[in-house]
Amino acid sequence: MKDKKVAVVMGSKSDLPVMQETLNLLDEFSIPKEAYVISAHRSPDLAADFAKTAIKNNIAVIIAGAGCAAHLAGALAANTVLPIIGVPLDGSSLNGVDALLSTVQMPKEIPVATVAIGKAGAINAALLAAEILAIDNDDLRDALIQRRKTLAKNIENIKL
Ligand code: RP5
Repeated sequence: MKDKKVAVVMGSKSDLPVMQETLNLLDEFSIPKEAYVISAHRSPDLAADFAKTAIKNNIAVIIAGAGCAAHLAGALAANTVLPIIGVPLDGSSLNGVDALLSTVQMPKEIPVATVAIGKAGAINAALLAAEILAIDNDDLRDALIQRRKTLAKNIENIKL
């Protein structure tokens, strides 16, 4: 799985400031990635084609970030058996709760692994993708373990 890529898809260019967190973290782990703006409702044919050709295009995991009635992750999941991680984004007056419910409440048989709304979700999506790729990549697993150790050290060093 070492040469496999993570695809980061977002529903609009307006999602980029948050989804940049995902892209930065994938870079930190030197995970090959590509990023696209694809909309489930504005470019539905592209969304279907993208998902249908993802396996052939050497993609291992797809991260899909979208706001509002966020059906992007589900629409991609409908067309591939690759793991899809959905990032609900805060894009409306409902502060991302609409996107959270649209992403997490997939009917049975078509899974979307849904992370938290917004920045925390964008970060966790990258880490979850890294954990999936680390199943057969020891260097990546070591890097993830190292990051956890740093997290622990940072907490231990807090003096109140
Ligand atoms: C969703 O609608 C996008 O993912 C974005 O979060 C939201 C608003 O999109 P724009 O109107 O800013 O393009 O499809």
